[in-house]
Amino acid sequence: MSYTTTAFPKDFLWGASTSAYQVEGAALEDGKKLSQQDVINQDNYRERGFATAEVTSDHYHHFREDVELMAEMGLRAYRFSIAWSRVMPDGTGEPNPKGVQFYHDLIDDLVEHGIEPIVTLYHYDLPWALVERYGGWVSRQVVDDFEAYARFVISEYGDKVKYWTTINEQSIIVQYWTQKCYVPKELRGNNQLRYQINHHMNLCHAIACNLVHELVPGGMVGSVIGYSPIYPLTSRAEDVMAAQNAHDLRNGYYLDIYFKGKYTDSALAYLDAHGLAPKIEPGDMELIKSGTSDMLGLNYYASECACACPDDGTHEMRWNGVNLTGKKGAMSGFETHPGFYQMCKNPNLETNDWDWAIDPIGMEYMLRDIWMRYGKPLMICENGLGAYDQLTPDGHVHDPYRIDYLGCHIAAMKRAMDYGVQMIAYCPWSAVDLLSTSNGVKKRYGLIYVDRTDDDPKECKRYRKDSFEWYKGVIARDGAGLEL
Ligand code: BG6
Repeated sequence: MSYTTTAFPKDFLWGASTSAYQVEGAALEDGKKLSQQDVINQDNYRERGFATAEVTSDHYHHFREDVELMAEMGLRAYRFSIAWSRVMPDGTGEPNPKGVQFYHDLIDDLVEHGIEPIVTLYHYDLPWALVERYGGWVSRQVVDDFEAYARFVISEYGDKVKYWTTINEQSIIVQYWTQKCYVPKELRGNNQLRYQINHHMNLCHAIACNLVHELVPGGMVGSVIGYSPIYPLTSRAEDVMAAQNAHDLRNGYYLDIYFKGKYTDSALAYLDAHGLAPKIEPGDMELIKSGTSDMLGLNYYASECACACPDDGTHEMRWNGVNLTGKKGAMSGFETHPGFYQMCKNPNLETNDWDWAIDPIGMEYMLRDIWMRYGKPLMICENGLGAYDQLTPDGHVHDPYRIDYLGCHIAAMKRAMDYGVQMIAYCPWSAVDLLSTSNGVKKRYGLIYVDRTDDDPKECKRYRKDSFEWYKGVIARDGAGLEL
């Protein structure tokens, strides 16, 4: 594909992104205790050979070097998350001074380098203590504990951080709940809990929005959603309707909460009819409505496709599969809701090795559609290409595929902006290589290469990839003249 772009606004935040458990390591250091991701990734290592979360990219010890590299690239923003189990190791109670200091040091270093911190309060890593105490997100108790955690973090860093995002990818947590949340084995057959957990998260999201408004003058807050626009497989009316149903349940169901304070009628009707709707207590919807969002973070990797799925009377739902091997075509299955929709492969799009469709136009479509529906400023909090990168003997990583992917998506974003969409930031995934949520460390996303394998963390030495140099040039030119 070829593309060109005119310059972005001078105040546009060119950034990059990571999350705490995927990059920090130091899983049990300086007072940090286990998070549910430490436990989930121990299982992943045993069962699949993917790296644990113990060391990941060792950012905890390399953060100054990483910030230096980010500054060299010219980044104007860095989106990262705070590990609840580092700041409050038991989930509640006394904060951990060394953990709290780590994020002060990181934020101060960013600010000194002219890099705007964009903080995510929660990215999949609930303190394990809360799972042991009451089952974690399945219990409503988590809402009170999240409130105390969020109040502490927002008060502690609020004078240095303007941009706050609340909970990473509720939509993906519902889809892949046992990887993103620790769910006790005996509860895994109860699909209503997916939506109950999400309801608890909606309450937490609203609480966090209210806290930012209370504690951070001039602060901006919103959620970060994992979003894929959904295309109909064909122009048959049945497929178009199925794509609308899929949109309502997988996208609208979250956005309507953030911006309208209500559950999407069609999605809720479907969930109700199938015994999946969340239990809503008196006052919940009022709380949700009170937590207004100033903006929305979007994680965009791929569009998806849906087709009609006749009601066969079985009501047997299936949930999205995953490609664990990185061999094209090894996706283990598609989400199916008989009588509502079925997800399927889009025959018109190329994919990466893990079967994720590559679709820059989908990014433009998503941004324009969300802007038209909700009219709030948007930021791309994640966008990137997972790939098997190779470090050459002379210390280079040639990743033209990533440059191509990012370039086409930046151009798509610019087209959306030229059509009036208000964008705050672009933060590709990821600033440095890190532990993938589904495929270990061999599936790499970073602009900065981290020398380690799934089995051996080595010293996590950093190398600039070709995409690093390329992105540096893009930022230096304010995005003008992007061209292949
Ligand atoms: C997003 C998550 O869903 O996708 C990230 O917010 C994740 O945490 C990214 O790493 C890519 O997914 P994966 O499974 O390839 O790591």
